[in-house]
Amino acid sequence: RNDLQLSGRTGQKIIILGAGIAGLTAAYELGLAGYDCTLLEAKGHAGGRCWTIRKGTAASEIGTGLQIARFDNDPGLYFNAGPMRIPQFHVTMEYCRTLGVAIEPFNNVNESGYYYNENAGPLSGQRVPKRAAKADMRGYVAEMLAKAVDQKALDLPLGPEEKAKLVEYLRAEGDLSPDLFYKGSSRGGYKTEPASRLDAGVRRDPFDLKSIVNSGFGNYFSNEYSYDQQMLMFHPVGGMDAIVKAFEKHVGDRIKYRTEVQEIRQSASGVRVVYKDLATKQEHEIAGDYCICTIPLSVLKKIPADFSPDMAKAINSTRYASAGKIGLQFKRRFWEEDEHLYGGSSLTNMDITQIYYPSNDYFSKKGILLGYYAYGGIADKLGGMSYQEREKLALTQGAKIHPQYMKEFDASFSIDWKRVPYQEGGWVSYSADDRQTFYKTLCKPDNRIYLAGEHISYITAWQAGAMESARVVVSDLHQRVMQA
Ligand code: PHE
Repeated sequence: RNDLQLSGRTGQKIIILGAGIAGLTAAYELGLAGYDCTLLEAKGHAGGRCWTIRKGTAASEIGTGLQIARFDNDPGLYFNAGPMRIPQFHVTMEYCRTLGVAIEPFNNVNESGYYYNENAGPLSGQRVPKRAAKADMRGYVAEMLAKAVDQKALDLPLGPEEKAKLVEYLRAEGDLSPDLFYKGSSRGGYKTEPASRLDAGVRRDPFDLKSIVNSGFGNYFSNEYSYDQQMLMFHPVGGMDAIVKAFEKHVGDRIKYRTEVQEIRQSASGVRVVYKDLATKQEHEIAGDYCICTIPLSVLKKIPADFSPDMAKAINSTRYASAGKIGLQFKRRFWEEDEHLYGGSSLTNMDITQIYYPSNDYFSKKGILLGYYAYGGIADKLGGMSYQEREKLALTQGAKIHPQYMKEFDASFSIDWKRVPYQEGGWVSYSADDRQTFYKTLCKPDNRIYLAGEHISYITAWQAGAMESARVVVSDLHQRVMQA
């Protein structure tokens, strides 16, 4: 931790633009090493996209207007509008440990969640538990593969014993009968649950192969395979912004809130930032030795700054992804009470894309679930609606999966990250070509200005990307200071 020692070289002033996760990490690490940091933050709160909505949270989107969260006043009733989950191997976990942020599992995978598709063959408009879709799809695919191995239809480089082993594996994988047919499986669940005495229960009937293939449900399975979506995942108890609060305990007194950067200037000897105090409307200036700029590039490109032509071009070339979410408070946790569903998600080809059930405060009375989490063009479409229209869409579509929606609904809060002032995007979006070209420029210091944020990492769209990028800037900066 104390690997950065200033050894008497005090007086180095670092101006950090943005008190999101990257800015906070940089200030925290530099602070430990004895640097004099000042953070300029345009919003009234730190954390940036790491933002938790509770009763009374008020915010204005560009073009959508003011919204006030009418959730109940209860520590369990929160909505993580930005990051909501942390992979175990991300540095975010290390900061939680160091800063004393309590964590609990985030249920990213739950077989009791549903798939629901429209215009997708015979299963259209039918909610199907994930376990049922998986049992059938895997069963039929295993059956076909097992037969292919037997029929020498595949030119496999395997001897007879190895083929037998492969078939044995496929039998277990698909829960096939001894003659290698998929005839349904208890993995898919029951029509009537097994119970006491002579009650063996009744297994559900499998869907036929054509129906399950046409449903498209199989295309959802891989969502939970990717490296950074695999269970276990975690989240802080009480909301993701517990991380922000913990950082603020160390560096909060260094943050100037509601200060909007107007100009970023630099010379051979230092940096100078002109900012507007949004409370007084007064312009001020602050000078320092170096600047760490964490402002999203979608916003930074509009700020007059002394960047080299290459850097300016790189900043201008960068594109951002759209993302939108809505939190829905319900009077009753019907997903738990009626459906035995505790956390996890349901996926659909409707605009709402997915529903996440809360991974906190099980058995409590009310709950806030994530009513939609959309990306790309769908996020843009939802973002273009009024708050009321977004709410109505989330309820109408969600009610097709959960008929309890209309009766139990309390309040909503929605967000379109492209419309959030000082963010203007969900996360950065680089093509493979971008990475080989202008991205490299973004990673290099531009004279005395260093960029940091999720956009300066290969862990984009994660807090860990912001943290890692801040850490490497801090160590580069320190080396430079020690050599100066
Ligand atoms: N980190 C974000 C999330 O988990 C965005 C993301 C989605 C990143 C899917 C990778 C894969 O929702």
